Amino acid sequence: MKKLITLVVTYFISCYMVQSQSNYFYSKAVWKDNTNIPINAHGGGILFDKGTYYWYGEHKSENTTTALKGVSCYSSTDLYHWRNRGIALQVSSDPNSDIAKGCILERPKVIYNPTTKKFVMWFHLELRDKGYDSARAGVAVSSSPEGPFTYIESKRVNAGIYPENMPTEDRNYSFSAEQNKEWWTPEWYSAIRRGMFVKRDFKEGQMSRDMTLFVDDNGKAYHIYSSEDNLTLQIAELSDDYLTHSGKYFRIAPGGHNEAPAIMKYNGTYWMITSGCTGWEPNAARLFSASNIYGPWKQYDNPCQGTNKEKTFGGQSTFLLPVEGLKNAYIFMADEWRPKHPIDSRYIWLPVLFKNNIPYIAWIPKWNLDVFTKRN
Ligand code: DGJ
Repeated sequence: MKKLITLVVTYFISCYMVQSQSNYFYSKAVWKDNTNIPINAHGGGILFDKGTYYWYGEHKSENTTTALKGVSCYSSTDLYHWRNRGIALQVSSDPNSDIAKGCILERPKVIYNPTTKKFVMWFHLELRDKGYDSARAGVAVSSSPEGPFTYIESKRVNAGIYPENMPTEDRNYSFSAEQNKEWWTPEWYSAIRRGMFVKRDFKEGQMSRDMTLFVDDNGKAYHIYSSEDNLTLQIAELSDDYLTHSGKYFRIAPGGHNEAPAIMKYNGTYWMITSGCTGWEPNAARLFSASNIYGPWKQYDNPCQGTNKEKTFGGQSTFLLPVEGLKNAYIFMADEWRPKHPIDSRYIWLPVLFKNNIPYIAWIPKWNLDVFTKRN
């Protein structure tokens, strides 16, 4: 009898823990694809193209957070059921390639360029065996959303160019070695805010780690990334073909230590959610808004509400997804990282709700898109 009860209880728990073929989102459960295999698309982002959502993410392995396969792609027409479309960008078996198997390839995002009719993928790249020192942005291109994507290049951002919002006085200032030496002192902070690391990296180009992409209503695309040793976010305009940077860029929240940027536009205002910098451990999310994408950006309180809000419910932001066909409906996408068993990292998707036109996120263990139509 005891055995039977255990069996029945286990059955119901596993039904709850596995999201497959159900029209609900269960954050942190195992989400399975059409082949009944857990979806493997972490640090991801979603592109909507011709009636289909394409979800791109890091393909994680059992024992390492480095890239052994590349960027995976899944497609869906309803956001609940996902078809595995394979690896959209493969890492290379050539050890000399920038994207050699074993490199760190994180937070891929894809946008579509209507002029060139190409799908353009950007991602955070760290060359193999160099830890997180390279801090490069990588770019790849494809004629179809599911790939295969062809790797183009990776580099630091906007070498030899200053950010537009760095005053001439700070561009010309000679930051002393003394200010550089000890981190976190008031003098060091002030130097960071003034752009000491922008100057340090001026020749080679700005560091680019956690990142996202955003295409504005006028077709201009932007790359938003953690720069300056993760101390400051930067937003760089992409060229018209989206394949490189235009040279125009701005600093956001200098010295604010933000990672995991995700951005959306709601009623003409840009909203950005980020995390702090605690490696794979969750921390409290941050919220910013701006009426001009280049800023100034205003910071608000933690957008998460309720139990575990200080840890973003155990997750870290990766994307803000506009739901097609619904006005002002956005999904907050986050990752619950499991660095000891990366392949088992989980997804947290929650609806973005608004109070007095300010977005907030509450933990809802089971929900679906009806949430948006039932709003007042
Ligand atoms: C936090 C970042 O958000 C992740 O993408 C990853 O780079 C980890 N740090 C590595 O510690």
